[in-house]
Formats: sequence, C-alpha cells, structure tokens
Amino acid sequence: MGNIYEEIMDEIQSRIEDRRLQPGKKLPSVRSFAKELNCSINTIVKAYSELEKAHQIYSVPKSGYFLVGSDAPRKTQPLIIDFSSAGPDKSKMPYQDYQHCMNQAIELYKEEMFQYSEPLGLTSLRRQLSKQLQDLQVFAPPERICVVSGSQQALDLLVSLPFPNQKEEICVEQPTHFSFIDSITSRGMKAVGIEMSQNGIDLDYLEKVFKERSIKFFYTVSRFQNPTGYSYTNQEKRKIVELAQKFDVYIIEDDYMGDLDTKRKADPMFTYDPSGRVIYTKSFSKVLLPGLRLGLAVLPEALLKNFTKAKFAADVHTPVLTQGALEIYLSSGMYKAHIHKLRRQYKRKGTVLKQAYLEHLPDGTSFTGGESGFYSTIELPGRMKAMQLAEHLKKKNVLVQDATNMYLPAYRKNNRIRLSVSQVEDRKIPIGVRKIGDGIRELAQSYI
Ligand SMILES: Cc1ncc(COP(=O)(O)O)c(C=O)c1O
Repeated sequence: MGNIYEEIMDEIQSRIEDRRLQPGKKLPSVRSFAKELNCSINTIVKAYSELEKAHQIYSVPKSGYFLVGSDAPRKTQPLIIDFSSAGPDKSKMPYQDYQHCMNQAIELYKEEMFQYSEPLGLTSLRRQLSKQLQDLQVFAPPERICVVSGSQQALDLLVSLPFPNQKEEICVEQPTHFSFIDSITSRGMKAVGIEMSQNGIDLDYLEKVFKERSIKFFYTVSRFQNPTGYSYTNQEKRKIVELAQKFDVYIIEDDYMGDLDTKRKADPMFTYDPSGRVIYTKSFSKVLLPGLRLGLAVLPEALLKNFTKAKFAADVHTPVLTQGALEIYLSSGMYKAHIHKLRRQYKRKGTVLKQAYLEHLPDGTSFTGGESGFYSTIELPGRMKAMQLAEHLKKKNVLVQDATNMYLPAYRKNNRIRLSVSQVEDRKIPIGVRKIGDGIRELAQSYI
C-alpha cells in the first residue's frame, strides 16, 4: 500500500482534473484539509511540499498554497482509475516462481513434458490436485479430476454434452460472466435465467423452474459471482443441492475463486451432494496466471467417458509443460503461501470498496458484492443506462464495464455496471467510487 500523503496527492490531482481546484486559486488550508480528509496536518504538509517540488503548487507566506496558473511548466498526468480490467492484479502474480517451476518440470520429467499426453491430464498432477482440493472441502479421487485448458473449456464442453437426465435446457444466474453467455448462444442452447440480486436468487422460483422446465443443469458461481460478487450462504447451497436432487437436475458449481474465501466455514455445494449430481469446476486464472489456461473439473462417473471424448476432440489435452509446472508449484507449498497472501490483500480491497460504496453512492442506487475484492455491480437509479454512465465516467478518467452483455438476450437489463477492483490500488478505490457517485448524480439531471 502507498503512503497516505500520496493518497492526498492523488486526491488533489483528481480535484484539478474535475476543476474543483483551478489554476491560480488557493488550495484548502493545511488545517481544514487535514480535517476534511481525516488525516494529520503533517501528512497534508508533506503532500503540499511534494507538489511544490513538482512545481504544481506554490506557497505564499502567511497566505497559503496556490495552484500554478495555466502556464504551468508541468502538465498534470490524468489519473485514470480502471475498474474495467477483469484480470487479476499483475503486481501480485508469481511470474518468477512459476518460471522456476517450469524449469524444474523440464529437469524432472524431461521429454515427457513435450510429448502427447493423457486427455484428462498428467496423473501426477491429478493426484496433487486431489490433495489440494481437500482444503476446499472437495474430496475427490484423482480419477474423477480432469485438467482442462481453463475452466471455461470444461464449461463449454458441458454446455453441449448430453446428460444422463436426458434434459435439454440450462438454468443460469442472470447476470453471469461473458464467456458462459457466449457458450450458450454460440452453441444455440436453450436457457432459462434466474435473477441474481443483492440478496442472491429466489429459491422458490428456482424450484418452479426445476419442476416445470426440462433443466439439464443449473450453472452457478457459488462464491464471488462474476459480475455480482455474491456468495451463497451454506444454507442456500444446501437447499439448491436438495432441489437439484428432488427434480433430477445436475449442478455445475463454478468455484473459480474459492481459494480467496476468508470464511473458512463456507462449504462448496459439492460437500452437500450425496450422489454425484454436482460437477465442480475450479480455475487457476484469477489466483495464479490467466495465460496458463489451467483449470479443472470434478466429474461424476456417469459423465466421465463422454467428457473425455469431448476433451480429446477439443484439444487432445492441455499443454503438458504448464501442467508439470503446476504440479511442482502445488507440491512445493508455493501455491499455499501465495494464496494466503492474496486472500488478505483481496479481503482488504473488499473492505475499502464497501466503505466507499456506503459513503459515495447516491440514494436510489444499489450495489451487490461490496465485500468482494474482485467483482461487484452497481444498479443505477431510474431509467439511467449503464452505457451512458460508462461513457460519462470515461470523460472523468474512470473506466467501468457496462454489464448489459452479461445477460442472455431474453433477460437483458441495461442499468447495471460492473466494477472490478482487483487491479485498482486500494487508495484509489474511494477516489474512483466518489467520481462514480458524482457521475450518477450529474447524469440523473438529464433524466429529469
Ligand atoms: C465466473 C467465471 N468462471 C470461469 C471463468 C473462466 O476462467 P478460465 O480462465 O479458468 O477459463 C471466468 C472468466 O472470467 C469467470 O469469470
């Protein structure tokens, strides 16, 4: 985390950009600014002296600090706050450790790393994954674990695979992430959406859908859902599994960020499943390195054979070298140490974000997933359109994602934006959210 005086400098920078501070005009006094920003006088003095050194402000004895005029020698860099980048924080990615594991894998396994291999993944890696999954309360033998080229590959294959219940439709939370929407639409599958709000989903409605429609599986992201950031309670998860059991529906539980959960008592749905009805998927993209394209699926016996065929048809197998390196990364304890650190960092981001939402969002606006250190959404007031707000905020150097395409065409809503805080420094989160709050208020005027 940066120093507090740097936060103050960012705040001043942002006031210059939106012209709350103007060239030649006086800055707030040291004392009043310290009070306003809830920090010490020394911190403001330090921030002002840094800006003075950079010739952005100047001091007049007994009078205070002033912003330099328009002929300022140094042009201020715009402070861009990017809530639209969906990937993990690049500064927290263990590139060097993984490089070391790749080298080790070549030394240890030699040419095996460059030969054709098993469609469902290296046996030694699957054994390691089986051990690792126990930390997430997922108990599965290596034979049921399939290594895939990103968890999206498993989802995409399952979308079009026939299921033992011989049903045809897919039930899916709305909104959900782009790539799953694309799988459904590009494969021409029939789908039923179930709305996800700040309170999760309506379980009575889910029961009705399971009962009345021909649902092959319910695709659910059980924690830190993308985009809403919602995590189901254990009670909700248990109920969903019971309903699936009762109405002969499969569940695909996408636990792509389960490792980041700090609630150690939170179980995956997989734990509540007595009969192989829950297919569990996990990704290494958000917690490790997305370009590795590594994920896994835990499959029931009944689906293994068909899935293996489909996986072979798709890409024969996932690249072996990255699998070998993952095995070493897991077995050496590097993964555990890395996750331990990430969990704390993302939790802190979530806390900062929620506080900023509570402070800066105007009435009539609601948010989901404020505590997720990754994704969350803001539902806009009245008839305000997400696309318009995203454009408006772009002019203020704040980038957000319009969530309209995260809905199936038949369920589309255009009043939600997604924020991803994973790549935004903690100190910039409140500044960005305040600008979003201001942007919503400004745009609301044009709807009156
Ligand atoms: C909820 C969710 N599941 C799965 C995926 C796919 O991840 P992977 O990179 O493992 O294919 C994504 C990608 O963003 C996602 O958001």
